[in-house]
Amino acid sequence: MAAVLRKLLWVLLWVVSALFTGTAWTPSKALAQRNDESRQAIPPARTKYLGRTIAPTMGIRGAPWLIRETREEEERPSEVMKQLGLKPGMVVCDIGCGNGFYSLMMAKEVAPDGKVLAVDIQQEMLHLLELRGREQGVTNIEPILGTIADPKLPAGEVDLVLMVDVYHEFSHPEQMLAGIRKSLKPEGLIALLEYREEDRTVPILPLHKMSKRQILKEYKANGLRLTKQYDGLPWQHLMFFERDPDWRPKNFSRP
Ligand SMILES: C[S@@+](CC[C@H](N)C(=O)[O-])C[C@H]1O[C@@H](n2cnc3c(N)ncnc32)[C@H](O)[C@@H]1O
Repeated sequence: MAAVLRKLLWVLLWVVSALFTGTAWTPSKALAQRNDESRQAIPPARTKYLGRTIAPTMGIRGAPWLIRETREEEERPSEVMKQLGLKPGMVVCDIGCGNGFYSLMMAKEVAPDGKVLAVDIQQEMLHLLELRGREQGVTNIEPILGTIADPKLPAGEVDLVLMVDVYHEFSHPEQMLAGIRKSLKPEGLIALLEYREEDRTVPILPLHKMSKRQILKEYKANGLRLTKQYDGLPWQHLMFFERDPDWRPKNFSRP
């Protein structure tokens, strides 16, 4: 009996001391850390950014449209490739690669020693890219499953990051641009392609278009400055950005 009472007393003492030291009823350290990491990895999604409404992500059912036969005539990707100025040995990245329309062309330009880091948030898209790569005998593409807030790229290793028809879908533009910015080599560039909002004849839904003015506003706010642009494409803006070395990051703004 005395032993049972002593045990109860010990338990009571532990609860009281735990309450005072703040260790009572907290989850295990590992669980707390895991929750912390997932909170950091995926902050709340935005619906708007600097006055622009963010578009929903194109799902896997859009994949055939990305490799339609008329794409060359409509968007002139062969001209885009010339403008990118890729060379063998470069490390390039295709963010929002989809089923690899651009990744495959880029891989051939940077071969044999260069590679393409192909990032998408949909595993199904990466799977289609791998199948198409195998069919075409392309072996220098590294598929990367990113998250909506993190492209999961290595720091300081990338010569050129290409984003085709994807930036306007980012639910976390600030976090994505921070990750992209960090991945660039000192002389690295971002090449951005977006359908022209200024041109009403471009047959794309307004939510999936961007104006130059809006692009410049958003990129400047994230420490990126325009270096050159090409206005000769039928439907899209092609704008190149580099890191602004004088820019200092602020805390991410609220969604
Ligand atoms: C309209 S498709 C464009 C595909 C490709 N760039 C092309 O032009 O053929 C947009 C792709 O971006 C992907 N995406 C959307 N948000 C993303 C993000 N935060 N990071 C990486 N990929 C993303 C989607 O899953 C989709 O595959």
